[in-house]
Amino acid sequence: MLKILTLIGARPQFIKSAAISRAIRGVFSDRLEEVIVHSGQHYDANMSSVFFEELNLPSPNHHFKLSATGHSEQTAEIMLQLEKILDLENPKALLVYGDTNTTLAGALVASKNNLPLIHVEAGLRSFNKKMPEELNRILTDHCSSLLFCPSESSIENLKKEGIVHREGKCSSDAPGVYLCGDVMYDNSLYFSEKVKEGLADYLVQNNYILFTLHRPSNTDDPDRLKAIYVSLIEFAEKFEKRIVFPIHPRTKKAMMHVLTEGEWDSLRNHKFIYVTDPVSFHEMISLEKNCELIITDSGGVQKEAYFFQKPCLILRSETEWVEIIDQGVALLIDASFDDLSEKYQLLKSKKLIFPELFGDGKSAEFICDKIVKEIQ
Ligand code: UD1
Ligand code: UDP
Repeated sequence: MLKILTLIGARPQFIKSAAISRAIRGVFSDRLEEVIVHSGQHYDANMSSVFFEELNLPSPNHHFKLSATGHSEQTAEIMLQLEKILDLENPKALLVYGDTNTTLAGALVASKNNLPLIHVEAGLRSFNKKMPEELNRILTDHCSSLLFCPSESSIENLKKEGIVHREGKCSSDAPGVYLCGDVMYDNSLYFSEKVKEGLADYLVQNNYILFTLHRPSNTDDPDRLKAIYVSLIEFAEKFEKRIVFPIHPRTKKAMMHVLTEGEWDSLRNHKFIYVTDPVSFHEMISLEKNCELIITDSGGVQKEAYFFQKPCLILRSETEWVEIIDQGVALLIDASFDDLSEKYQLLKSKKLIFPELFGDGKSAEFICDKIVKEIQ
């Protein structure tokens, strides 16, 4: 039995981990034992516990409490607590997802303890080091012994940094690098079968736009955040479009700080815009499946737009998920009404095609199989 320790801590990681935990319990229960550690990075019920309940995730074996507010502090606090758990559990490898501070903390602790690191969602690059996630990804990939890449472009990115697959027992000097598809696609397929209609029931199907926002490049620049607010309202009114906006806690705090009380009230009570607390994954899937189009700066949500064959406007100057841009079904947009409305109309006027780009929905099984074979 191979014991691995999985470190998760932010909303998208709970969701991603559901696929691998399911595969471990379903197919690999005689070969893999998973110990789950929750870093405490996300803590509100609607950012954390709701996913454990709804996605049938095993409860964390260890759950940290963080007092940090800044990036370095947050990373350091997770590192200190994680190191103690490694001593206690003595796993054969540490598994991390994506690119958050939790991911980086895990990568550094594994590396310092000479423990094989498994990185799921390896090789993604935005080529924008101002983005906190970019450094987290690069450093994590360079510490990893097993790298699981969701797309061809992520394999290519790693190659350019000298990270290529080597046969034989994997290590951070001679890693195993695999194209495995996307565990989020596994989950979208699996849960969309199960999901009951939710919020979308209250809306006319295909007649609303789903909107999410949380990247610091959008929330932490007051002028840009204000420009997003203004263009969203102008867009909703001009096109008479309903917009559903599950608001990330970071964004809510930033908006309450930057907008006047009157502006914040007019957003919350707008006749076309429905601002709600973060929703559960089932609810989110239902919203994604039934909407007309998605506007987002989220990495996960732009991909789910693709999985559910919805056009997507990405409120960023670049994206790691270049395939969906190359496919012509998503466009980058600026924080302006003109750009938003022009690109909205452009996407609406095109015939969009969504070939399978992110695997076959069985990435988790592939990943578990490689872990069992490569980690001794
Ligand atoms: C983090 C990740 C980001 C990921 C996102 C997913 C980093 C650097 N960023 O960003 O890559 O896309 O999670 O959602 O790791 N907050 C709450 N309640 C919560 C969680 C957060 O109120 O349950 C508020 C707090 O004020 C906190 C702020 O949101 O300071 C930001 O949270 P943090 O986890 O630091 O970053 P995210 O913006 O969530
Ligand atoms: N999500 C959710 N509820 C919400 C917003 C997002 O369940 O209110 C899900 C979404 O479906 C996707 C994941 O959270 O699976 C994306 O996480 P997020 O946007 O927070 O982070 P990112 O993917 O940008 O790192």
